[in-house]
Amino acid sequence: MYKILKAEQLSATNYLMVIDAPRVAAHCEPGQFIIVKLDEKGERIPLTICDYDREAGTITIVFQPIGASTQKFAELKTGDSFMDFTGPLGCPSELIEMPIEELKEKKIIFIGGGVGAAPVYPQVKWMKEHGVDVDCIIGAKNKDLLILEKEMEAVAANYYPCTDDGSYGFSGMVTAQLEALYAEGKSYDVAVIIGPMIMMKFGALCAKKLGIKECIVSMNPIMVDGTGMCGACRVLVNDEVKFACVDGPEFDGYGVDFDAAMKRQQMYKDLEQRAILKLQEGDTHHGGCGNCGGDK
Ligand code: NAD
Ligand code: FES
Repeated sequence: MYKILKAEQLSATNYLMVIDAPRVAAHCEPGQFIIVKLDEKGERIPLTICDYDREAGTITIVFQPIGASTQKFAELKTGDSFMDFTGPLGCPSELIEMPIEELKEKKIIFIGGGVGAAPVYPQVKWMKEHGVDVDCIIGAKNKDLLILEKEMEAVAANYYPCTDDGSYGFSGMVTAQLEALYAEGKSYDVAVIIGPMIMMKFGALCAKKLGIKECIVSMNPIMVDGTGMCGACRVLVNDEVKFACVDGPEFDGYGVDFDAAMKRQQMYKDLEQRAILKLQEGDTHHGGCGNCGGDK
């Protein structure tokens, strides 16, 4: 069992947990993910690692309760446990595998959208720990949904918060903030863009338009079981078939076919909706009226 050492609601839609998982903490690197399972019958949920402490043997995860399982996770308290906590999985961020001197020569901007700020944080923290200055834009719908602010401020050379409704920081989406930085005379060699699929699609288009040479995105949102077996996370990158959970989660943002990936993601949503209904109504429904017994 993997004990929850801390459970905290960060905002109306985001939850943070610190988990006692020494073996994962000993080996994980920024960019990797874990698979968490609540109990024997629980669904396997892949979540990117938000932070790790090798000495304390802990892993921090941040999630949004959008499906049946993550809704159950949100009800857990400090002292509760997960049955399985498997990892680290996937490939570490390719940036952290570069020689430090090479990294220091690059002008890098990290861009996190909503809960996508969580996987951005360990990468920016790693950069700071290795003496690499990077800038960071974090966007959210409004001030209350902006997460990990203090943490980001502590590790980014320049931190640019922005909100869609203008309630805090720059008024506008992350792409508008990036364009505004360019208008002020800033420029970058690499953009790491992590968040909702639609944001990564338009973020990559914006980065290309601005002439940013390299763009990295994280395809964690299309993963389902994270095992390389279900096929859900199939993605075309520069016309090659890749699987986000095995070959990624990070890929060349200029090569990802976002439209095809979003179409596939949509196909898996119906099953998820059925799982939510099952959670709400028990075993008596099959996605319809809930009265006939259906596929019970
Ligand atoms: P959200 O919808 O509130 O969007 C966050 C920010 O993204 C916005 O404030 C805006 O700045 C930017 N954005 C959104 N649409 C945009 C567009 N069309 N053009 C430019 N910028 C845009 O985010 P949320 O509700 O917190 O995000 C939830 C999603 O994040 C889930 O779908 C989840 O799958 C995804 N997610 C992705 C990763 C990853 O590794 N890529 C990790 C965790 C969560
Ligand atoms: Fe199932 Fe990648 S999530 S194959």
